[in-house]
Amino acid sequence: MAAAHGAVVTRRAAALALLSFLAGCGGSGSGPTAPTPTPTPPPAAEQDPLRADAEASGRLIGAAIQSRYLAEPLYARTLARHFDYVTAEYEMKWDPTERQPGVFDFAGADAIVTFAAANRMQIKGHALLWHQALPGWVAALPANELQAAIESHIAAVVSRYRGQIAVWDVVNEAVADSGGLRDTVFLQKLGEGYLEQAFRAAHAADPGALLVYNDYGSEGLGRKSDDVYALVRRLLDRGVPIGGVGLQMHVAAQNRPSNADIAANMRRLGALGLRVNVSEMDVRIRNVAGDLSARLEVQRREYRDIVGLCTAEPACHAVTFWGFTDRYSWIDGFFGPDDPLPFDESYAAKPAFFGVQDALRGR
Ligand code: XIL
Repeated sequence: MAAAHGAVVTRRAAALALLSFLAGCGGSGSGPTAPTPTPTPPPAAEQDPLRADAEASGRLIGAAIQSRYLAEPLYARTLARHFDYVTAEYEMKWDPTERQPGVFDFAGADAIVTFAAANRMQIKGHALLWHQALPGWVAALPANELQAAIESHIAAVVSRYRGQIAVWDVVNEAVADSGGLRDTVFLQKLGEGYLEQAFRAAHAADPGALLVYNDYGSEGLGRKSDDVYALVRRLLDRGVPIGGVGLQMHVAAQNRPSNADIAANMRRLGALGLRVNVSEMDVRIRNVAGDLSARLEVQRREYRDIVGLCTAEPACHAVTFWGFTDRYSWIDGFFGPDDPLPFDESYAAKPAFFGVQDALRGR
């Protein structure tokens, strides 16, 4: 339902959002004190917190967020109650943070970091180097200046949040759907070495951060996931400081890699000594047969199975959904109207929520 992305909020707006969230807590932290306009089922703010179950399972449970929604009390309240991990859906990408060369704008990113700290959430930074959300000036640079721009961008962004952002998606979507490396401006001008430079620059800026390669369409087994596997092996062989792989998991229900293949892929990445995370999960159901309740039931099982694959695999340390409420999802604009997330548009828990809960509780 949401526009793709947009307004960057100021620190003041973030502070107001935080105040409004804290005011809504009423001090008890145990749910709303007055009836809410949401009918049945009850607001997710009344469900057991997913984050407690996640903690008990030794995993982080995360959501991609946008700072402009934090001013909505139920958005902030649901997020803080159920999640202990956040990712910026947009506001830490190159375009919003450095739209003009050397001119940085961290307002949106800061608002997210402030909210996370106030609510004891960890943060995954996303994404330092991606061929999208890339300002035009970067793409226009000659090779030597492009390399310098990448290094100074990464140094500025990562060092700003050193010690606050524990995990960074350093390179996003560098493998082509058709095999090999994606034909980006980075590859064209710098060759494959750009990946190594990006990871080394991030490591220099925050030696304590876990540095991740993130991609889609490589969750299970197959050519693209073999290419991702081969890429991260090459990086490891060269001593590049990569510590993890993100499996995006934007899937359509009943048309996704099998549980066995996802488990095998997680396991082989883990065997390289890498951490694995499910980084951008959402489950489309518009093409599932049956009425709405049947589609939601299929979605519940998909969430349960995929989150359960992470809790079953020692290398998998986190699951992040790409949003958390159907009110705001990129899926509607990209794949068509859908309801891909665990909370509905009124912030009520959907069957998918209980699928996640079951998985985190080992059921
Ligand atoms: C998407 C956001 O959800 C949109 O709001 C934005 O306009 C474009 O990017 N893979 C990624 C994410 O790694 O950064 C993308 O996020 C979705 C696909």
